[in-house]
Amino acid sequence: MTTTNPIASQRRDDEIDPPRYPMPRGCPLDPPADLARLRASAPISRVALWDGSTPWLITRYEDVRAVLADRRFSSDTEKAGYPPTSAAQLVRRRSTRSFIAMDDPEHARYRRMLISEFTVRHIAGLRPMVERVTHELLEAMAARATPADLVDAFALPLPSMVICQLLGVPYADHDFFQEHSRSLLDITTEPDEALRRNEELRGYLVELVARREAEPTDDLLGRLTERRVRTRELTRDEAASMGLLLLIAGHETTANMIGLGTLTLLRHQEQAVRMRDGEPAVVNAAVEELLRLLTVTHIGRRRVATEDVQIGGMTIRAGEGVIAANESANRDPAEFVHPDELDFDRETNHHVAFGFGVHQCLGQPLARLELQVAYPALLRRFPRLRVAVPAEELQFRNNMVVYGVHALPVAW
Ligand code: HEM
Repeated sequence: MTTTNPIASQRRDDEIDPPRYPMPRGCPLDPPADLARLRASAPISRVALWDGSTPWLITRYEDVRAVLADRRFSSDTEKAGYPPTSAAQLVRRRSTRSFIAMDDPEHARYRRMLISEFTVRHIAGLRPMVERVTHELLEAMAARATPADLVDAFALPLPSMVICQLLGVPYADHDFFQEHSRSLLDITTEPDEALRRNEELRGYLVELVARREAEPTDDLLGRLTERRVRTRELTRDEAASMGLLLLIAGHETTANMIGLGTLTLLRHQEQAVRMRDGEPAVVNAAVEELLRLLTVTHIGRRRVATEDVQIGGMTIRAGEGVIAANESANRDPAEFVHPDELDFDRETNHHVAFGFGVHQCLGQPLARLELQVAYPALLRRFPRLRVAVPAEELQFRNNMVVYGVHALPVAW
């Protein structure tokens, strides 16, 4: 049941200076303290974005899920009132329309074409490949001098190699696509640069699809080309846009979960041992708990109301932007007991780290598989793994759409 908050229920039109969003963090492993304050006292309130707009920030679990489940909120970045993440995101989404920024039925049409590639069953078939890549990367890391950067040696190449295998993108090109996607996910990137990089990446994917039209391959891009481009259900450009979304979404998120998750585990040695030695059920619960606690997609799910909608006792008017802060929902004490603790024994953990509703992460079975393989394998291969620099030297990804640690020097 949605509760009405007496403070939130008064429209705060008198509020002249809404707080800036995203907010600065205190502890780098916790969301900003201001988010918790808003959740407790004004769970639906205006915030100010980089472009001067003042959308509603939704901070409670129940309200976040209500927004994400409600089709009257649109994901279309082109609609007036949509709260953009950055200038770079705006130009990028304008030049490449992908289904993450579309509404049904258009969104569903594209998403349906990929569903068979991401079923739990299909993804389970990739386990041997994920285990092999993990093993090879860990052996290569063991051969490096210590300290080594875990992000560079393991956290980034693992999901990057896996998504390359799945899509059929040559991993040999990883410097190119990793650098481009890093720049596109940086909220400080200038629009011109974002546009250039987006065009280059898109051109690269178009070329990969074109090659498959001439010579079919048995990989996701190959199957999409064979089943949808040849049949003219999709244009070459549309298939390339889908591939581009998967390539970017498929490696940055998981890579940062591996980096930040490892840092968290190294600060909680008892839990690290349980992750290392636990039965699959323990490992699975541990992965869910890290996903909840860290919520690397840390700057909210963004929508715009297409009609007047009642949420948490407030009316969001048609045309107003909302930010459903999943990073705050995942720390809501009304849903999670001791939400700021890393607890592998939660009875229920319906976190929203993968979002909720029709746009809920398509790649979540793959992300889960990678994390369930990566953490225990890393901790088993290096039982004495430790962070090799003082905590204050670590640089966190405050400027990035996906949160994490830029580099994680480790010794073993
Ligand atoms: C730990 C890793 C991951 C996290 C935390 C994550 C998180 C998310 C979130 C929060 C959304 C919802 C976006 C919204 O509501 O606007 C999303 C959507 C999406 N994710 Fe992920 N993701 C992860 C890994 C992956 C992987 C590995 C892939 C692909 C192989 C992927 C592909 C997608 C796609 C295609 C969408 C758009 C779905 C749609 O609009 O229907 N993600 N992800």
